[in-house]
Amino acid sequence: MTNIITDIDIISPNTETPLDAPRITPDSNTGKSRKIYIESYGCQMNFADSEIVASIMLENGFDTTTTAEDADLVLLNTCAIRDNAEQKIRNRLVHLTALKAKKPNIKVGVLGCMAERLKTKLLEEEKVVDIVAGPDAYRDLPSLVGEAEDGEKGINVFLSRDETYADISPVRLNSNGVSAFISIMRGCDNMCSFCVVPFTRGRERSRDPHSIVAEAQDMFDKGYREVTLLGQNVDSYLWSSNPDVISILAEKKAVKKGVDLTGIEVVNFAQLLEKVALIHPDLRVRFSTSHPKDMTDDVLYTMAKYENICNYIHLPAQSGNSRVLELMNRGYTREWYLQRITKIREILGEDCGISMDLIAGFCTETEAEHQDTLSLMEAVKYDFGYMFYYSERPNTPAHKNLQDDVSLEIKKRRLQEIINLQQNHSLQRNQQDVGKTFKVLVEGESKRSADYLMGRNSQNKVVIFPKGNLQKGQYAHVKVHSCSAATLLGDLV
Ligand code: SAH
Ligand code: SF4
Ligand code: F3S
Repeated sequence: MTNIITDIDIISPNTETPLDAPRITPDSNTGKSRKIYIESYGCQMNFADSEIVASIMLENGFDTTTTAEDADLVLLNTCAIRDNAEQKIRNRLVHLTALKAKKPNIKVGVLGCMAERLKTKLLEEEKVVDIVAGPDAYRDLPSLVGEAEDGEKGINVFLSRDETYADISPVRLNSNGVSAFISIMRGCDNMCSFCVVPFTRGRERSRDPHSIVAEAQDMFDKGYREVTLLGQNVDSYLWSSNPDVISILAEKKAVKKGVDLTGIEVVNFAQLLEKVALIHPDLRVRFSTSHPKDMTDDVLYTMAKYENICNYIHLPAQSGNSRVLELMNRGYTREWYLQRITKIREILGEDCGISMDLIAGFCTETEAEHQDTLSLMEAVKYDFGYMFYYSERPNTPAHKNLQDDVSLEIKKRRLQEIINLQQNHSLQRNQQDVGKTFKVLVEGESKRSADYLMGRNSQNKVVIFPKGNLQKGQYAHVKVHSCSAATLLGDLV
């Protein structure tokens, strides 16, 4: 299993597709003459963007199809987070070159983070590509497709300060009809030194909370029972009816400057979470990703107050050593991180699910500093995690200022140690659940047997249990009788 964990390019643990496979659009057959095929890579935010893209294209004369061979337009929504994410796309483009040789009228577009990172270079390097569109340029896709059909190359990699696609109703792709993702913000202002996201997704901006609540309400009305609010750093979500207020508030200068906020609506993440939780007690609310430097006790208290806000936090650590964290520009120390964990357990209880991201072998990391990462893991005992070895990304602060001097061999060995330890911890944490009863939201049949159902508990653990009379979208109470490191097995009570 370990190679699967290390080879994914994904940020949210909440996924139902095999982690190393791209997501592919399902068929829509509404009788339109042209067909589009979309393949999505990367994080949940990218998958959510593909649903925006599908919505825009369906409005503009396309139906979706499940095979590139059937399509008039093939779109790859790409990720640039690690080098292997981009290599996968390069391989797909080789395949599409062969397809285009057979079907010359087919148009190929590259969207998302790799498109934004490489811009015109992508058109120069990959002749098969007709369209390049960055994450903020999707409204322009129909006209870019028009340019491609006129025999030109269509490119738009403009990054916006205010685009949130708030008014576009996503077409749910690959959905189980039970859980859906809602983007609440775009971009990132953090500049962690290893990370390309600030360059590929631009400045952070928060989406109008009214449109978020309306979308969640609409999902609930359609039978969905779980929404996951998505952002690179959800804790810095901040929206105001007066956009000028945001920059002042973000710098926390409003009070100092004596700005009068009367009559101005301001919503932070804790408040947004509460608004979504209040839609209905049967609508579960999750979110990802929390940032240790910004996660407030307010958010934790809001989670504790509402049973339907899931008792689970994805809190990427990246490293357990304060010097490395400083080089990463993460904005917190090991002690601060551990103090956040203590607060989580104090306010939400010992059984709150906690997961992480960790990077092995960052620039100049010593053996002792790697041991600090292992000891951080021992101190926290995460329920699960996403673990990677450092992959240098061109033009990031780490690439410009630091030496990528840990050899690949050492990076891989350290990563393996981290993965092995996490496997132990996942098993230990699951063993603590044996004998307990959980409320589980049924997501569908178990992959192994049609007599069993699969769902998740509030802590985001996968639970397998006999079908009974239950259907997906319903809640079951399951008493756990056994477990593996990845799954809880139980019986209905
Ligand atoms: N916004 C989230 C993370 C987004 S990227 C956060 O701040 O936590 C998802 C994960 O990919 C990161 O948490 C990090 O662990 C990993 N990652 C990002 N850049 C990387 C790089 N250059 N090499 C290896 N892993 C990286
Ligand atoms: Fe990247 Fe850091 Fe922003 Fe996460 S918070 S997306 S790791 S820059
Ligand atoms: Fe997501 Fe990859 Fe972009 S992780 S934000 S698709 S670089």
